[in-house]
Amino acid sequence: RLLLRNKLKPICRQQSAAMSGLLINQPNYSWLKELGLSEDNPGVYNGSWGGSGEVVTSYCPANNAPIARVTQATLAEYEETVQKTREAWKMWADVPAPKRGEIVRQIGDALRRKINVLGSLVSLEMGKIYVEGVGEVQEYVDVCDYAVGLSRMIGGPILPSERPGHVLIEQWNPVGLVGIITAFNFPVAVYGWNNAISLICGNVCLWKGAPTTPLTSVAVTKIVAEVLEQNKLPGAICSMTCGGADIGTAMAKDERVDLLSFTGSTHVGKMVAMMVQERFGRKLLELGGNNRIVKAYKQAVEQYIAAVEQAKQQGGTVVCGGKVMDRPGNYVEPTIITGLAHDAPIVQTETFVPILYVLKFQTEEEAFAWNNEVKQGLSSSIFTTNLERVFRWLGPKGSDCGIVNVNIPTSGAEIGGAFGGEKHTGGGRESGSDSWKQYMRRSTCTINHSKDLPLAQGIKFE
Ligand SMILES: NC(=O)c1ccc[n+]([C@@H]2O[C@H](COP(=O)([O-])OP(=O)(O)OC[C@H]3O[C@@H](n4cnc5c(N)ncnc54)[C@H](O)[C@@H]3O)[C@@H](O)[C@H]2O)c1
Repeated sequence: RLLLRNKLKPICRQQSAAMSGLLINQPNYSWLKELGLSEDNPGVYNGSWGGSGEVVTSYCPANNAPIARVTQATLAEYEETVQKTREAWKMWADVPAPKRGEIVRQIGDALRRKINVLGSLVSLEMGKIYVEGVGEVQEYVDVCDYAVGLSRMIGGPILPSERPGHVLIEQWNPVGLVGIITAFNFPVAVYGWNNAISLICGNVCLWKGAPTTPLTSVAVTKIVAEVLEQNKLPGAICSMTCGGADIGTAMAKDERVDLLSFTGSTHVGKMVAMMVQERFGRKLLELGGNNRIVKAYKQAVEQYIAAVEQAKQQGGTVVCGGKVMDRPGNYVEPTIITGLAHDAPIVQTETFVPILYVLKFQTEEEAFAWNNEVKQGLSSSIFTTNLERVFRWLGPKGSDCGIVNVNIPTSGAEIGGAFGGEKHTGGGRESGSDSWKQYMRRSTCTINHSKDLPLAQGIKFE
C-alpha cells in the first residue's frame, strides 16, 4: 500500500500543475469551444448576454480541475431579465400553439446536432459518465418531439350544460412566466422537460441552473437562443440568470413568476415551497428521493464516509466497497451494506452517495410496508414473475411512489409518462402524459346563446 502511495505522488504533482490553468485552454478540451464557451462566460441571457455578479469557476468534480468561469447575475440583472421576459410573453402568447411547436421542433434539432459535445460537457462538469450525459440531452430532444405533437393536441372538453341554450367549455391558457430552478445532478434534462412543455403551452421561461453546473446552463441557453434569434423572436422567451440561493429566493418570492418549477433537495424545496405559498403562487416540486445509486461528487466523499460509519454503528455490515479509492480525484467504491433494520435512521435518509442498503424480508406485506414507510416517494421497483403480486404492487396497497416499476431498475424514466413523486418528493409531475396541465390555467366558461337568463340549479328569484 505504501509502495502504491509513493507511485501515485508524481502523478498527483503532474495533475496539480495541469490544474493551474483552465481546461478550456488545453488542446484536449478545445471541443468546449464548439458549444460557444470561452474562458469567461456571461451568465445572464434575456435577449442579450450579460452578467456582472460574482465570478464562479466551474470545476470537474472527478479531479477538481477548473474548466472555465461564469459571471453570475446580480439582483438588478435578475430584475431587468424578469421585465424583458414578461415583455416577451406578450407576443409569444399570441403565436398559435402549433407554430410554437415548430420553434420547439427546431430547438430539438439544434440539440441533436450538438448531442455528443453537450453530453461530454455534462459528463465533465457534473461528473456522470459520458453515456448518461448524452442520455440527458437525448431526453431534452425526446421531450421536444413530444411537445411538438402536443402543440396540436392540448385542449379542454365541451361539457353538457344543464341550462337550455348554454354551453360549458374548459379553456386552457398559459400561466405566463415559468421560473425553472434545477439541481446539479440533471443539469440538462430537467430544464428540457420544463422548457419544451412550457413553450408549447404559450409560456416564457426563466432558468436558474445549479451554481456547480453553470457552463451547461450557458451552453444549453446558447443553443436555444440561436433558434429564437434565427426566427426573429425575442430571446427573452427563454431567459437565464445564473446564480445561487439569492437568485433562487428572488424567484420564489416574485409575484411575477406565475409558476415556479423547483427541482432539488427536500430541505431547500420546503423553504422554496413556503415562500411561494406565502404569495399563493403556483409551484411544481421535484424533491429528494432515496435512491443512492448515483455518482460520487466533490463534498459527497465526506457524506459517503459519514454514511458508511453511521451504517456500521446502526448495525450494518459492509459486504462490498465501503472505502474512498486510493487515487487522485473524488472517487469512492460503490458500496453494499446489509444487516440494517428497515427503520434504521440511515436507511430512511437521502445521503446521495453510491451506497445500496439490502434488507431481508419475510413476507410481501412487510416489503411493501418498508417501501412505503420512508418519507420520500419518487421511485420504486420489484422483480417478480408472479402476476398477482405485480398487480398488488401497482394497486392501492402497493407502492406509494410516483414511479412504480416491475422488473426494471428504479432509475431512468421515459419522457412519455408523467414524472414525479409523492410525499416529501413534492407531488409535482413533469414531462409526458397530462403534465402540460401544470403549465396552464384552466377557465370553466359558460356561454349563453339563448334569449333567456336561467340560473343554475333551477333557482328562480320570484
Ligand atoms: N425528484 C426529482 O426528480 C429530482 C431530480 C433531480 C434531483 N433531485 C434532488 O436534488 C438534490 C440534489 O441536487 P442539489 O444538491 O443541486 O439540490 P439543492 O437543493 O442544493 O439545490 C437545488 C437548486 O436550488 C437552488 N437553491 C439553493 N438554495 C435556494 C434557496 N434558498 N431558494 C431558492 N433556490 C435555492 C440551488 O442553487 C439549485 O439551483 C437531491 O436531493 C435529489 O434527490 C430530485
